[in-house]
Amino acid sequence: MERSSRITGFYKLPPEERLKLVRDFAGLNEEEITAIFTTGSLRIEQADRMIENVIGTFELPLGIATNFKIDGRDVLIPMAIEEPSVVAAASNAARMARHKGGFFTSSTGPLMIGQVQVTDVADPFGAKMELLANKDAIIEKANEQDPLLVKLGGGCKDIQVRVLDTIRGPMVILHLLVDCRDAMGANAVNTMAEAVAPLVERITGGRVYLRIISNLATFRLARAKAIFDKEAIGGEEVVEGILNAYAFAKADPYRCATHNKGIMNGVTAVVLATGNDTRAVEAGAHSYAAFNGGYTSLTTYEKNKDGDLVGTIELPVAVGLIGGATAVHPVAKACVKILGINTADELSRIIAAVGLAQNFAALRALATEGIQRGHMTLHARNIAVMAGARENEVDMVVEELVNLRKIRIDVAKEILEKIRGNK
Ligand code: MEV
Repeated sequence: MERSSRITGFYKLPPEERLKLVRDFAGLNEEEITAIFTTGSLRIEQADRMIENVIGTFELPLGIATNFKIDGRDVLIPMAIEEPSVVAAASNAARMARHKGGFFTSSTGPLMIGQVQVTDVADPFGAKMELLANKDAIIEKANEQDPLLVKLGGGCKDIQVRVLDTIRGPMVILHLLVDCRDAMGANAVNTMAEAVAPLVERITGGRVYLRIISNLATFRLARAKAIFDKEAIGGEEVVEGILNAYAFAKADPYRCATHNKGIMNGVTAVVLATGNDTRAVEAGAHSYAAFNGGYTSLTTYEKNKDGDLVGTIELPVAVGLIGGATAVHPVAKACVKILGINTADELSRIIAAVGLAQNFAALRALATEGIQRGHMTLHARNIAVMAGARENEVDMVVEELVNLRKIRIDVAKEILEKIRGNK
């Protein structure tokens, strides 16, 4: 029978009914149905309210990175991630950073940009002047949309106007600079951008098309710094190795993509654990890395006068504590409590510190023994289980696989046979 993905009214069905349709479409068995439909602490009704066409939930491991001292405060870091070694690496880096006081952070505050695209303007620079002259009216219109945010000290604070040369001719781009306080801000900013559009058309005589937040949040930067004691991290050789790794990333976008990916291992895991928008932060980070033309590292490394390694990071971190999944997802709420924070700004600074820790750990491993050794044990554990090792056999099989440096299922089976034969 021809299967069709054109299913009218799918969205109107309850999750169980949707899942039945998917089962019939894809030939899912009972085990698969149960895996999809068995929810954890996020109940199906909650999930069904969060996105459209829900058929179940998707779980990931939640780990805790230990040892972090951030701005003098000890913090446990919840991380949601599927990749082995990330949590261990962050904890390890944080332990080494403690020798010189841990991580020190700062930020610009929670200002997001809303963009309004104006086309069909005969005199774009004249229109720019008109928009700037009408700044107060534009800000007032924007702020009418969100009196609560304004009451909390946020709201539209300023505007910028740029004239862009595009393949479709000049365009006037208005930026609303909106202080989002403890919200990520996409909703507030998009509402404001849409609300000012008619006024902007009247002022410029042009035609407005796009009205949307920018994820290149250059006014919502979070920063962190740590000094890594040279002895604590393995000596001068390691310092030199990390400086060389950093130089490589700065000189080569092929390497830099992976270098920044390592940063995002930490960043995204915390963003996700707190129910925030991982794609917004990822887009912000990578576009910020490319902001000055070439794609570069989000971190820097130097050697100070004592020969210790000084690491820094600066990146946009648009996260919130209210208004998004953070406030409804039970695990995300608990993760915020674990972090012991009260503001989105604090969260963004912690995230920057974790990004720096993650990058330092990766560079240290890469510049010394390589990263495979760290990855091997967990991988070997999976392979041992897949080869049929029972609980009391797993550790022995893992040890042998790691010793042999051959993490393969056939090797695991041979080891198992040997162990069982020896009994
Ligand atoms: C792996 O997920 C991340 C690393 O590749 C980062 C890096 O190369 O710097 C280890």
